[in-house]
Amino acid sequence: REVGCLSIIVLGASGDLAKKKTFPALFHLFAQGFLQENDVHIFGYARTKLTDDDLRARIRGYLQKGVSAEQEDVLSRFLLLIKYVSGSYDSADGFQLLNKAISEHEISKKSHPGNSRRLFYLALPPSVYPSVCRMIRQNCMNPSDLGGWTRIVVEKPFGKDLNSAEDLSAQLGELFTEEQLYRIDHYLGKELVQNLLVLRFANRLFLPLWNRDNIANIQIVFREDFGTEGRGGYFDEYGIIRDIIQNHLLQVFCLVAMEKPISLKPEHVRDEKVKVLQSVLPIKHEEVILGQYEGYKDDPTVSDSSNAPTFATVVLRIHNERWEGVPFILKAGKALNSRKAEIRVQFKDVPGDIFKCQKQGRNEFVIRLQPSEAMYMKLTLKKPGLEMSTIQSELDLSYGLRYQEVKIPEAYERLILDTNYILTTALFNPMFDSIRGDQQHFVRRDELKVAWEIFTPLLHSIDDGELKPIPYKPGSRGPEEADELLAKAGYVQTHGYVWIPPTLT
Ligand code: BG6
Repeated sequence: REVGCLSIIVLGASGDLAKKKTFPALFHLFAQGFLQENDVHIFGYARTKLTDDDLRARIRGYLQKGVSAEQEDVLSRFLLLIKYVSGSYDSADGFQLLNKAISEHEISKKSHPGNSRRLFYLALPPSVYPSVCRMIRQNCMNPSDLGGWTRIVVEKPFGKDLNSAEDLSAQLGELFTEEQLYRIDHYLGKELVQNLLVLRFANRLFLPLWNRDNIANIQIVFREDFGTEGRGGYFDEYGIIRDIIQNHLLQVFCLVAMEKPISLKPEHVRDEKVKVLQSVLPIKHEEVILGQYEGYKDDPTVSDSSNAPTFATVVLRIHNERWEGVPFILKAGKALNSRKAEIRVQFKDVPGDIFKCQKQGRNEFVIRLQPSEAMYMKLTLKKPGLEMSTIQSELDLSYGLRYQEVKIPEAYERLILDTNYILTTALFNPMFDSIRGDQQHFVRRDELKVAWEIFTPLLHSIDDGELKPIPYKPGSRGPEEADELLAKAGYVQTHGYVWIPPTLT
């Protein structure tokens, strides 16, 4: 059976997410040859009245900055693949027009009815997901089942708490099967996040160390050195826990803490993620510090009495054999003194340590997710030279140096490819019925549910005003109380030691 052509439909095509993330990701895939002119067509859909050329000009305007002179031609060819259809998100007319445009493309590419592939990317606010999904279901599905498919990619926020998320899941679940739904968490598309399972389970070195016997605490940290500029209205409704911690950091947490899956099949991996989430104990208020940067409320789209945290440190504790007693400290903040995301695994002190009087710090294994992707292991070593003293040094694997020839893909590029690529190959695979797309790097419905179960009580206490954020200065480390909580949780800071990313000389 031949695979039919591919239509990628970006709903919300005139919006910010589409402009900043979706179209650039599609362009990079095109430029690298993963999307072929003879096969693919891209449709933008939104309410704004635009012509094809208007949309192309907007996208060009945004993409052109990063495009070299040689790539100009590639960009022009890419833009020609884009068509625009305008319509509302809740009436059939627009979606029928869209369906007509997709069908014409399919016929022009000589696809068999029903063997074509339709990927709907919802770059939209979640409030319209149910109506848009209903419209797609009623008007835009592949007409038959000759191996073709229809897939829906949705972005967070998936609800605001357990009930609203379950509501949304139920509404989407009535329209599409779990196999058709791809819930994006773009952190799962980051190179070093995708490396976590390989690192943990393909290296003997880590197997005996990765547990409560050796590890004192683990931090998963996200810091940004800018505030909520331009997104205050959205952010104020959600706050940093819903924006970053409940999704991005919790996904990283799962991959760091979960047990080894039976295999790399998406369902096996996701089963383990759900299990570790189910082992998380209720969060204690005394293990939470919230902050809000000064000036946050000056944004006219933010309420004057806003209680939304722009910073949070939350300690998670896992009740299982591997992790009992080991705090997982999840920390995220906006308008801080630096921008980075990292996982910091701190090991316990050496028992019966004969170097205690000279020793400068504990072993730490740090995985720098961004920027300057790297992994380094902090070690205590003999100071080189005649003197017999110790220093803190590191084994360093910095990606920029070690893999100079590799361009690290953007998270979104990889994830869009996952929704499409595996199914293309799966069509040729005798196991087609059982292999239904590579959803390993997407969030399953039950996973989402447990993630909300963990955070909902805390979020409600914040929404009710029972817990209040502490003000902090923009450009600082966040509230001092967060460092105190870190120390209380057992993190030992190495004073005077700073890792400097190596550079090319
Ligand atoms: C988004 C959040 O999901 O992730 C933003 O809504 C945040 O607030 C962004 O800035 C961070 O993504 P990245 O890939 O730049 O770390």
